[in-house]
Amino acid sequence: MFADRVLSGMRPTGNLHLGHYHGVLKNWVQMQHEFECLFFVADWHALTTHYDNPQIIEKSVWDMVVDWLAAGVDPAHATLFIQSRVPEHAELHLLLSMITPLGWLERMPTYKDQQEKLSGKDLSTYGFLGYPLLQSADILIYRATQVPVGEDQVPHIEFTREIARRFNHIYGREPGFEEKAEIALKKLGGKKAKLYSELRNRYQEQGDDEALESAKALLDEQQSLSHGDRERLFGYLEGGGKMILSEPQSMLTAASRMPGLDGQKMSKSYNNTISLREDEASVAKKVRTMPTDPARIRRTDTGEPTRCPVWQLHQVYSGDEVKQWAEKGCRSAGIGCIECKQPVIDAMLQEQRPMRERAQLYLDDPTLVKNIIADGNEKARKLAQETMRDVREAMGLSYG
Ligand code: TRP
Ligand code: SF4
Repeated sequence: MFADRVLSGMRPTGNLHLGHYHGVLKNWVQMQHEFECLFFVADWHALTTHYDNPQIIEKSVWDMVVDWLAAGVDPAHATLFIQSRVPEHAELHLLLSMITPLGWLERMPTYKDQQEKLSGKDLSTYGFLGYPLLQSADILIYRATQVPVGEDQVPHIEFTREIARRFNHIYGREPGFEEKAEIALKKLGGKKAKLYSELRNRYQEQGDDEALESAKALLDEQQSLSHGDRERLFGYLEGGGKMILSEPQSMLTAASRMPGLDGQKMSKSYNNTISLREDEASVAKKVRTMPTDPARIRRTDTGEPTRCPVWQLHQVYSGDEVKQWAEKGCRSAGIGCIECKQPVIDAMLQEQRPMRERAQLYLDDPTLVKNIIADGNEKARKLAQETMRDVREAMGLSYG
């Protein structure tokens, strides 16, 4: 009934690298053709951990948007915007904070984990504790149905669902809800009201999902119903109150674990990255100086690919033929490591060439980027304002 809306955000905390490309951006590029997509720069989220170094955030915001565009995220297909340019996120965050049990936040696995991981920083702040709630506001304010995230973020999406449910439970039940729903039902007219009631019973008594869908379709067709009555009748179907905020699903993307230059996962904190728009000479040099099978000291020694980080890169970049060539050549000392690395270098450069070209366009004319974002900010803000109107009304804040 409601079309899917995909939303995802990324924190601007430094250069994007090939791990971001293979893990996230490639996915976004594909999804933008399949769904309505909103992608945003989570600059406030970056501030929760980088509050003492905001300069890096400002620079990273624009670099990151250029990286997205370079990777093929297309403003004609997706809305790109900056979180802090849609201040409604902050308003929803504040209002949701009123109903958020402290324990829910304190128990988030990411809370303790991150505090330990970033132990050099004082993260016993109010803002950091509220990180997942700000994320919930980001998602709920667009009534997003799907949120593509990495596995570590799944608890945040589950938390978001619980917050939405709690909100609907507390504020979706207006006084006299049942009576009002019955009055709205009468407005449907005799025949349709009867059909609605039959379908509702079938759903509520027998759990008949088809009946639920038919009833929703019936409501969809009723152009003359007021917004409020329509929401009531939707809510009445499933027994609860009005559904003001909708529960999102996480969309786990096939976790492509991009290996870094040392065989560990590619990550800034391991210092093993190749950035998205790294210059060609540097890419070649980094791969050429990568460690290989430690047991293969001389060119004449045979090697074992499974002990070699270069082999992992072949898994990402090479077809079967090249992989067989490398595997055989390594185990028989038929090829040297420099030779083995060349196809990986070539494939990386080929992958990055169009990205560098696209980026150049935006680096030559930064107003293009500013305009794309200004456009996106405006579109996002309209959507956010619609939800906030409903939220304020539900919470009894539409006076004045
Ligand atoms: N917490 C996310 C991350 O670190 C970034 C983020 C902020 C986000 N708000 C979001 C992701 C909303 C999805 C939806 O990756
Ligand atoms: Fe690694 Fe290739 Fe050298 Fe074998 S030949 S050790 S797989 S780089």
